[in-house]
Amino acid sequence: MGRRLLEILSMFQSIRTLVECHPIRVRPPKRGTHAMTERAAILREIGKPLEVGDIELAALAPNQVRVRIAASGVCHSDLSMATGVLPAGAPCVLGHEGAGVVEGVGSEVHHVEVGDHVVIAWTAACGHCWFCLRGEVHLCRNAIADSYSMPYATDGDGTSLFTSMGVSSFATATNCLGRAVIPIERDIPLDVAALVGCGVATGAGAALNTAPVEHGSSVAVIGLGGVGLAALMASVVRGAAVVIAIDPVAARREIAESFGATHLIDPADGDVARQVRSVTGRRGADIVFEAVGRSATIETAIKATRRGGTTCVVGAAMPGEMVSLSAYDLFMNAKTLVGCQYGSVVPGRDFAMLLDLWRSGRMPLDRLVSRRVVLDEVNDAFADLTAGRGVRTVIVND
Ligand SMILES: NC(=O)c1ccc[n+]([C@@H]2O[C@H](COP(=O)([O-])OP(=O)(O)OC[C@H]3O[C@@H](n4cnc5c(N)ncnc54)[C@H](O)[C@@H]3O)[C@@H](O)[C@H]2O)c1
Ligand SMILES: [Zn+2]
Ligand SMILES: [Zn+2]
Repeated sequence: MGRRLLEILSMFQSIRTLVECHPIRVRPPKRGTHAMTERAAILREIGKPLEVGDIELAALAPNQVRVRIAASGVCHSDLSMATGVLPAGAPCVLGHEGAGVVEGVGSEVHHVEVGDHVVIAWTAACGHCWFCLRGEVHLCRNAIADSYSMPYATDGDGTSLFTSMGVSSFATATNCLGRAVIPIERDIPLDVAALVGCGVATGAGAALNTAPVEHGSSVAVIGLGGVGLAALMASVVRGAAVVIAIDPVAARREIAESFGATHLIDPADGDVARQVRSVTGRRGADIVFEAVGRSATIETAIKATRRGGTTCVVGAAMPGEMVSLSAYDLFMNAKTLVGCQYGSVVPGRDFAMLLDLWRSGRMPLDRLVSRRVVLDEVNDAFADLTAGRGVRTVIVND
């Protein structure tokens, strides 16, 4: 087990101790703020299917908001947490790509009110740590610890449940930190808005913020799920001249073409980096986005990057997974290798901008929603993701 994984798991353990030893006092209940029974998909044990059952949301703390979840996208990171590829505390309620309607507001939260439509960001930036003060709110030092130590929920037997990234949107309702909720305009369909909570923010943010695409440039995207396709759409918006879409699933390559990809590559047709070079004047692409999360595809992405170009790693690989790269290639070809956390987004700034791009038709985010299911079908949504069926399966509540 990797050292990082152990660190994260021990962090979860200390958070559990913190929560159990120091229950957080809350004010007397107000409307929508008292403890409440809801339904949720519970990950009881890593590697097991999710179980849908009752949960008891804790009474709302002054710095929290209760959101009635309307829609939750199912991101590959949820599947990775459920299967143990990425760390998660269990038992927990997964889902970190959610949107809904505010139902209760703690006394210290002032930017939203009951009835507001919101997207929940999975980094609830504190606004005052070293990273937040530098504008790197996606790297906030306090976001994870504060989210995991807030009062959240217990299951039907009274067992404490972990939240997932402070969102836990595979449920009918959730408690989140007030600073995680971003109000949006009320006419935006909440299933489209939900995708902005993770996949779209991450993928589009990669191309807009982390490795900004320049007009006339060449871009390659490896992995055409919700994240990769959002990076591709944003690259088109930024005016990339050559947009190379790479995925073994033919249907996903076809969707990429309809979003503006100029070249499609099936990895089964042989050396991907060579194929990228062959359509970029033998140079390689200016920017290569990796949106799979495996060392082999990260290595391919570096090889497919041109001299002086940038490889942007968006995919989330297992802690401890190592990437092998040529030290000579890195310096001799002056390549930039950049990791991407949450598309380097500033949620309060970027969520509205991304939804404006959808509204104007420049980013057809609604076309990423390939199937809607109810909460009881959450494991079918995981099966879609595993099989590469559609793009984004979204759980919708009535
Ligand atoms: N960096 C972040 O902050 C962040 C945020 C969200 C998701 N992620 C990660 O981004 C990745 C993508 O997420 P998603 O929800 O779009 O997943 P997804 O499963 O919908 O898409 C992944 C795609 O990769 C394709 N793929 C598999 N092997 C490939 C190969 N050898 N070459 C090219 N394509 C290949 C699959 O066919 C699939 O279409 C995951 O690793 C996820 O955990 C990272
Ligand atoms: Zn995600
Ligand atoms: Zn911070």
